[in-house]
Order: sequence, then C-alpha cells, then structure tokens
Amino acid sequence: MNIVVGITGASGYRLAHEVVRGLGEHEVNVHLITTKPAETIAAIEGENPERTRELAYRHYREDELEACISSSTCPMDGMVIVPCSLKSLSAITHGYCNNLIIRCAENMLRMKKPLVVMPRETPLSAQALDNMAQLVRDGAIMLPPIIEYYTRPHTIEDLNHFFVGKVLDTFAIKHNYPKWRGIR
Ligand SMILES: Cc1cc2nc3c(=O)[nH]c(=O)nc-3n(C[C@H](O)[C@H](O)[C@H](O)COP(=O)(O)O)c2cc1C
Repeated sequence: MNIVVGITGASGYRLAHEVVRGLGEHEVNVHLITTKPAETIAAIEGENPERTRELAYRHYREDELEACISSSTCPMDGMVIVPCSLKSLSAITHGYCNNLIIRCAENMLRMKKPLVVMPRETPLSAQALDNMAQLVRDGAIMLPPIIEYYTRPHTIEDLNHFFVGKVLDTFAIKHNYPKWRGIR
C-alpha cells in the first residue's frame, strides 16, 4: 500500500510521528510531506522532524509540486493529514492547491480515494465546522484527535496509539493498538 501522509502546522507533531511509524510498521510505504509551519511546531513541541523523515518511504517538501504524487496518475491508495491545521482544512475544502499536501488531498477527492483529515483546534468556529461538513460531503473522513477514556489511557503515548489504530481502521489494516474490545 502507498499512502501519502501530510503533516501541517497544527499542534500534535508527536501524533503525526506515531501515525507515520504505525503505517510503516504495517507494510505501508509512507509518502511524507511536511509544511514549514509543521517543522516550526515540531521544534516548539520538542520533536525532531528528521526522525519522522527516517521512518518514511520518501519525503517531499511542501513546494515540490512537480513530484510524481502531485498527479492523480501516480497510484496512491489514500492519504492522511495529521494534524490538519484550520488553514489547510480551508484550502482543501475550497480547492486552493498552493502546496503539495493540498494538491494530493484534491487528487484523493477527485479519484474517490480515502482522505483522512485530522483537524486540531479548539474551540471551533462556524467557518471551520462548515469546512469540515463540506469535506465530509465531498467524501473525506473527518477524524479529529478527540480523546477517549474507555481504553483507560495512562500516557499521551497511549492516546496517540489509539488514534494510530483509528487511522489503520480507515484503511482496513489489522492492528493491536488500543480499541474498544467489548466488556469481558
Ligand atoms: C505554537 C503554535 C500552535 C498552533 N496550533 C495550531 C492548531 O492546533 N491548529 C491550527 O489550526 N493552527 C495552529 N497554529 C497555526 C498554524 O501553524 C498556521 O495557521 C499555519 O499557517 C498553518 O500552515 P500549514 O497548514 O500550511 O502548515 C499554531 C501555531 C503555533 C505557532
């Protein structure tokens, strides 16, 4: 499987790192695109983007619009944007393809392939909610990293792993990340 992962400048770089790792550990070639604001946030949050790039099958700059994955003729199986800033959410919703992440997202919508969007902001404006609703109508899967308590997470890593599992679920990839398994 070939999946594009876009990391944008919303809070939660560590979650993006874990998604890249989780996909890679499940036989997925991760085509990674990182925006400049995402790298700024990574530094603010004490993370090292180089470590994430090392886990990817390939890494692209956000301005690499001539890359193969920029075209819908390049056979990708889907895309995850984690975390997705409200700016990028708006750009995808309105088809403003000014970087490789937005262009790839547009390709997923055009080709009816899975597009998983993980917006992170709170509280949310009506504009952001409208954009999310429109994207869901256009076929995207809206997967905001809203925490759960029923798996009894102890650490942020536990929570991150829950979301990695949710991402793998959207691609029907079997995994052992935390999830609800019924009352035993
Ligand atoms: C410390 C910090 C945290 C931020 N967190 C968020 C966030 O959680 N969600 C969001 O939508 N924007 C957030 N932003 C603003 C985005 O980084 C900004 O809108 C940026 O232009 C997004 O660009 P991109 O989507 O191309 O990466 C944050 C900015 C900073 C400096």
